Amino acid sequence: MTDHKITIAIDGFSSTGKSTVAKQLAKELSYVYVDTGAMYRAITLYAMRKKYITKDSFDEESLIKDLPSLLLKFVFEASRGFAAIYLNEENIEDEIRTMQVSQYVSRISALSEVREKLVSQQQQMGLEKGVVMDGRDIGTVVFPKAELKIFMTATAEERAGRRFKEMKEQGQAVNYEEVLKNVTDRDHLDTTREDSPLMKAEDAIEIDNSSLSLDEQFNTLLNIANDVIAKHN
Ligand code: DC
Repeated sequence: MTDHKITIAIDGFSSTGKSTVAKQLAKELSYVYVDTGAMYRAITLYAMRKKYITKDSFDEESLIKDLPSLLLKFVFEASRGFAAIYLNEENIEDEIRTMQVSQYVSRISALSEVREKLVSQQQQMGLEKGVVMDGRDIGTVVFPKAELKIFMTATAEERAGRRFKEMKEQGQAVNYEEVLKNVTDRDHLDTTREDSPLMKAEDAIEIDNSSLSLDEQFNTLLNIANDVIAKHN
């Protein structure tokens, strides 16, 4: 058996648990995990801080002008067990997970200039394969030739429930209805945007995890990944 590595693309709706299983898979296979949603969230946080985006306005032009000066990178953090995202040398891993960032991120990620910058960086990160990348357009745009594509789904209520629990545990003041609305709003915006809308690649394997435990989900995906890896060796 050689150690030929493959590219694993995991796409799906928000809060389907993509990142949880992507991290588990990367760890088990000794692959690199890349959370592309964190990259869109980082640009969103920047736009919020600069007040380029507010509830009623969006200064796209200023954001686009600043894009070349924004440096994003991932740095492994042993205490978290995964790589945290940095924006211009600042660790913003926790700040990008707030409800406010979630409310603005779909508008930011609809901008083609933002997508172009991030997709190109993501493609660079996956050049050497051995990567598990999760997002919305990984199997369709970033790595259309990925050896394994997964498309994850779950009901909106199940996803909102999980997200709500997670945010409460982090000590964030949220209510379930607000989280459910954010999940369904983002589903709508992510699937209807013009540039790279969220959709299942033709050759992706769909997994509905509404009634799967974390262990079942992980084992299902690991078996699939091992089969595909074996076929490529
Ligand atoms: O995975 P997430 O919920 O952290 O992603 C946040 C948002 O970023 C999501 O609502 C849409 C956008 N996104 C995207 O457009 N393309 C990606 N590859 C990843 C995320």
